[in-house]
Amino acid sequence: KENVLSQWFLGSIDQGTTSTRFIIFDATGQPVCSHQHEFQQRYPQSGWHEHDPAELVASVEMCIKKATNSFVEMGHSIDDVRAIGITNQRETTLVWNHETGEPLYNAIAWPDTRTKGLVRELKQKEKEMGLDLSQLTGLPLSTYPSSVKLVWLIRNVPEVKEAYDAGKLAFGTVDTWLLYNLNGRDKNYYVTDTTNASRTMFMNLHTAKYDDKLLDFFELDRTKLHMPKIVPSSCAIAYGQINGGPMDGMKIAGCLGDQSAALVGQQGFTPGSAKNTYGTGCFLLYNVGEKPVLSKHGLLATVAYDFGRNHKPVYALEGSVAVAGSGVKFMMNNMGFITHSDKISELAASVDDNGGCVFVTAFSGLFAPYWIDDAKGTIFGITQHTQRGHIARATLEAVCFQTKAILDAMELDSGHKLSGLAVDGGMSNSQLCMQTQANINGIPVDRPAMRETTALGAAIAAGFAVDIWKDFSELKAINQKDRTLFEPDISPEDSKKMFKKWSRAVEMCKGWLD
Ligand code: G3P
Repeated sequence: KENVLSQWFLGSIDQGTTSTRFIIFDATGQPVCSHQHEFQQRYPQSGWHEHDPAELVASVEMCIKKATNSFVEMGHSIDDVRAIGITNQRETTLVWNHETGEPLYNAIAWPDTRTKGLVRELKQKEKEMGLDLSQLTGLPLSTYPSSVKLVWLIRNVPEVKEAYDAGKLAFGTVDTWLLYNLNGRDKNYYVTDTTNASRTMFMNLHTAKYDDKLLDFFELDRTKLHMPKIVPSSCAIAYGQINGGPMDGMKIAGCLGDQSAALVGQQGFTPGSAKNTYGTGCFLLYNVGEKPVLSKHGLLATVAYDFGRNHKPVYALEGSVAVAGSGVKFMMNNMGFITHSDKISELAASVDDNGGCVFVTAFSGLFAPYWIDDAKGTIFGITQHTQRGHIARATLEAVCFQTKAILDAMELDSGHKLSGLAVDGGMSNSQLCMQTQANINGIPVDRPAMRETTALGAAIAAGFAVDIWKDFSELKAINQKDRTLFEPDISPEDSKKMFKKWSRAVEMCKGWLD
């Protein structure tokens, strides 16, 4: 029997943009067993990106079933799993009938840009009213938050409008939808955590409550719209329990948006600590402590985590890059350059450098720190010399350049330069990409051996709720060993030159006509 030393385990559901996982961790923070499932991405029109709500739930149930079966086959007992946490892709917006629980439309995924026109209209309104919503929410008006997606749904989908008019429209992000369904659609568990709520643009960042000023701005009537109750990220009673399947009756005790969970998983608990997670997108979170810091340089302010029990929520500055792993997927699925995502590094390493190519992967406009809604993906510098390897390299470099721009903005906002960058997520497996990141940043990149940090963060939130730990200092033994440090190995001048080219490319990718 493996893991004989572990007296207890914690489970974690990680529902990301392209795949779902369920992982069971032991007391040292190591995964004992897991199952991952990639589900279907739906792109019904250019710029549209949807998920099937039922498929999201089914993928979670399937992952729980498969991982739990292997856990039991290994000789472990489900009784030793103390609780589970849940973490999820953020902003993605779902609507359903509050009475029947039936979805009224596909989930509109966070990178979807169908709201571009609506955002233009709302920005104009914001200006005319002399408002700056980012002061209240930490988020600029863009296609990214849930608010604009919900307004689009009410305006454009008759079934949604009908439900709204009849006072039966339920709105939720992925955490809410999953929790509601995992609890057998019990309305007592129609909830969201503070981190997820901070991505909707309906929550006032300073009070951590929904704000009528925001709902009024989006012309939403609270008497017609059902919204989930906001609860702390770590809570023994708020999230109910799993209804059915091999984990039937298991307590759900933690819930965080995936980028918040990764910060917790990396133990970024002190102000000034940061992490960068290379998932479908790439998100850098910088812990700023118990008061939000509003960015003046294109970053978002967000709730980092909220562990409740008389603790105030902790805030972060965030730099969001819309395209990271999805750029690699594009190379594989759309261009056919590689047969598996892991092969991107090999292809990029087949050439010595980018051969003069810069790829601004602005498939969903360009997010932080630029916020250019009308930017389109553009490759600059193609000549007869250009090989697939150069483009593969430019795809990886795009994330590194945007991360560097975010770090520069963070330095300006915080007055503090990071001395190293903790990383995780799929693309951090690439040595080449992480070395490039260190070279472009000019600071070391620090990668843990176990990179399922997002799932670990949700398990930690659940563990605190059921009193496995009481203080962050008790986590010292968790996933801190065997880290790899990538030190910059090019000159600051060369690094500057590369970044200058990137910045020029960003300037040139704006304003493409639809
Ligand atoms: O804000 C979107 C983010 O939560 C998605 O994360 O890991 O699926 O790229 P990921």
